[in-house]
Amino acid sequence: MDPILHEWGGLLIRWTHVIAAMAWIGASFYFMHLDASLRRESDQPAGTTGDAWEVHGGGFYHVRKYVVAPERMPEHLIWHKWQAYMTWFSGFALLCWVYYGSADLYLIDPTVRDISALTGAAIGIGALVLGWFAYNLLVQSRLAESEMLLAGVGFAFVVALAWGFQQVFSGRAAMLHTGAVMATWMAGNVLLVIIPNQRVVVRDLIAGRTPDPKYGKTAKIRSMHNNYLTLPVVFFMLANHYPTAWSTPLLPVVVALVLIAGAVIRYFYNERNAGRGSPWWSWGVAAACLLIAAFIGISSSPIGRERLGLAAVMPAAMPLPPGQAAPPQQVVEVVTGRCSMCHAAQPVWTGIHIAPKGVLLDTPEHIARQAEGILIQAVMTHAMPPNNLTGMEPEERRILADWLRRRG
Ligand code: HEC
Repeated sequence: MDPILHEWGGLLIRWTHVIAAMAWIGASFYFMHLDASLRRESDQPAGTTGDAWEVHGGGFYHVRKYVVAPERMPEHLIWHKWQAYMTWFSGFALLCWVYYGSADLYLIDPTVRDISALTGAAIGIGALVLGWFAYNLLVQSRLAESEMLLAGVGFAFVVALAWGFQQVFSGRAAMLHTGAVMATWMAGNVLLVIIPNQRVVVRDLIAGRTPDPKYGKTAKIRSMHNNYLTLPVVFFMLANHYPTAWSTPLLPVVVALVLIAGAVIRYFYNERNAGRGSPWWSWGVAAACLLIAAFIGISSSPIGRERLGLAAVMPAAMPLPPGQAAPPQQVVEVVTGRCSMCHAAQPVWTGIHIAPKGVLLDTPEHIARQAEGILIQAVMTHAMPPNNLTGMEPEERRILADWLRRRG
């Protein structure tokens, strides 16, 4: 794909995705908080569990919750669903655009498994679909009668999933796909359970029947799952930009620690908002988990290992991308001379401990793999080297430009 189109398309899809996710998560946090803030009033009408008063933007709001449904269908009923659908669709588009569109750069690590872009995409999309069925079956099974048991099995499932992705994808793609499967559960919960259940209740109301409370209850459980999934999912989405989070063989352990940290932080707010006290210990647990995760991440880079007194592990040699020739010697000299002090398995630039964004530019093979990134960062723009710290000459950029033009 044309690099400018890829860059701008990626930016616009990401913009949409982040805005949709803010709207969805914002609404979801708001309703969790609202639910927890409801207080019974002395004149609480039958069929309602509580009221809440809120002040926002210069006005007062009075909200009331009906446990199953009001007696009659209200004239204006606001649904909350498009934020969730938009988040999933834009996220899926971004996944395809970045990871399947530039599979060589992001999805496939030939030292892990040399699969084709198509195979990679099929595995990724297949995992999203199968992941939903597995989760849905789990929640509908007898196991779900115990919340703790369900949480334990769900936790083990996600950690195993991360391990599975790690066997076929780059570390970066493994972390992102783990988050994407969980995000698909969240969107699936809205599309396939919460909204359909609410529709049944609305249909009953219109027909003058009393709706069965089980529909609301099931929807509430799924909504609760979404609440606990949110923080880890957002972490996995962001962490793919931070190589110390994913370039470790212990990636499933990092995933496990983040799942615990995210869940206990949500737990703190759920308890506090419901007026059941403030379980401060949950912050201690979250901090400990994240510290261990950071420690694991740091110990995966050669320099980090040296500092910790561990034996060095160098990454396996990377082959050239399929069907590509090695870059000319002149190009290799420019790039190793101006870029590889930071972009190497063992960077020598002060303050850089791991190749930024996981981009390695220290061998002809790595340089060939990063051709598109070099074009965007060092030829079309002068974003790299940052502030031209290594004093790259215009002539050297021209050498890169000539190579990239010939390469097509
Ligand atoms: C002084 C250290 C340093 C040098 C030298 C350097 N880079 Fe970088 N590079 C970075 C940092 C830091 C980032 C991460 C920037 C960010 O967070 O957006 C980065 C990111 C990148 C990325 C990934 C961009 C992205 O957002 O995915 C590419 C590609 C890249 N550099 C190419 C190069 C090239 C080509 C050169 C040489 C011409 C070079 N870099 C020289 C530090 C350096």
